[in-house]
Amino acid sequence: MKTTISNVGNYVGESVTIGAWLANKRSSGKIAFLQLRDGTGFIQGVVVKAEVEEDVFKIAKELTQESSIYVTGVVREDERSPSGYELTVQGLEIIHAAKEYPITPKEHGTEFLMDHRHLWLRSKRQHAIMKVRNEIIRSTYEFFNQNGFTKVDPPILTGSSAEGTTNLFHTKYFDEDAYLSQSGQLYMEAAAMALGKVFSFGPTFRAEKSKTRRHLIEFWMIEPEMAFMDHEDSLKVQEDYVSYVVQAVLANCKKELAALERDTSKLENIVAPFPRISYDDAIEMLQNDGHEISWGEDFGAPHETAIAEKFDKPVFITNYPASIKAFYMKPDPNREDVVLCADLIAPEGYGEIIGGSQRIDDEELMKQRYKEHNLSEDAYQWYLDLRKYGSVPHSGFGLGLERTVAWLCGAEHVRETIPFPRLLNRLYP
Ligand code: 4AD
Ligand code: MG
Repeated sequence: MKTTISNVGNYVGESVTIGAWLANKRSSGKIAFLQLRDGTGFIQGVVVKAEVEEDVFKIAKELTQESSIYVTGVVREDERSPSGYELTVQGLEIIHAAKEYPITPKEHGTEFLMDHRHLWLRSKRQHAIMKVRNEIIRSTYEFFNQNGFTKVDPPILTGSSAEGTTNLFHTKYFDEDAYLSQSGQLYMEAAAMALGKVFSFGPTFRAEKSKTRRHLIEFWMIEPEMAFMDHEDSLKVQEDYVSYVVQAVLANCKKELAALERDTSKLENIVAPFPRISYDDAIEMLQNDGHEISWGEDFGAPHETAIAEKFDKPVFITNYPASIKAFYMKPDPNREDVVLCADLIAPEGYGEIIGGSQRIDDEELMKQRYKEHNLSEDAYQWYLDLRKYGSVPHSGFGLGLERTVAWLCGAEHVRETIPFPRLLNRLYP
């Protein structure tokens, strides 16, 4: 019976055939232990010289790391194995004998691994991270579909900027200038006026010269946008959404979290509601702790970490100064110098995972912002139209997928959270 490692539990005591790669191997004169992987999981195959035909043991002894094989064996339950099963090998057929594989079980430096990212992805740790990433995406679609949202796809090539002009990727669009999308938000606002509650999921680009463990040049964002929803309504959706995703990962990625040695006790209590503090309070908190920061400055990574350490759940920092936030955010009606926005800061030092706000819905105020931010009325005419024809209160947010993967996996750096990271000075592989 041909099957996969993930399905061997259905065949205990039976003989199965699996297409696999040899991840690692230990052998003596009498027995060989093959660490096998097939993309669905990992399992150990045991080859006992006295129990197999001579050529099978010979193949097992000579098999090079990452060779592809068809392995036939009897499935046994095994409590000690992480997969819960082991294979007593009966037959081995080589599909392709791998050349000397560059990534050996010994330690390698980060740059070496990054140069070999196309192969590094095969490792147990990277496999687990990609599975967690997939579960976040799967549960995201599930959450928004269950809550009446429609998936809408904003363009990647745009004629205008959403998040300021300092980190735009420029390209030619035939004879015109175009930019790679920094955020689908402005288009999602148009979509919300057509469909009510919408969400997008796609790649976004920031030509940022920052080299930190939280920044990618190309990253993926989930961007919900909701008509007739104010800032408070949006915070509620955000905490419900993040809780849903965390609980889905805990329920459906047990093996992966174990392989990553993630302390899951810290994730178990990630359940809505999340604490909220104002920007004003956050500044005061930091100043009391001896940080050099004054009102009107944006937070750096150390500030975010210091604030997050005071909470065991993600924390919303709300109502930032208008001067350090995007042009489209709605001012607080009680206080014009701050805007109705929030950043959600993950626990354990993983930083800002969500940025969101209520949007300006007044045409005159939006026009004024265009002037203040030097935005051309031509390029943003369509966006102004949304404030001319049945304008409504509306809010939305963007969750950075890779930072969320890093947090849930306990990964130090976002470079491990996307299959092929685009970083400052790295476009290969
Ligand atoms: O805070 P940001 O810039 O917000 C927006 O783009 C809004 N237009 C979203 C919206 O309201 N629809 O980005 C949102 C999130 C951040 O909180 C962070 O998690 C992630 O995107 N992010 C990055 N992730 C990796 N690398 C980068 N360079 C990132 N920049 C932002
Ligand atoms: Mg932000």
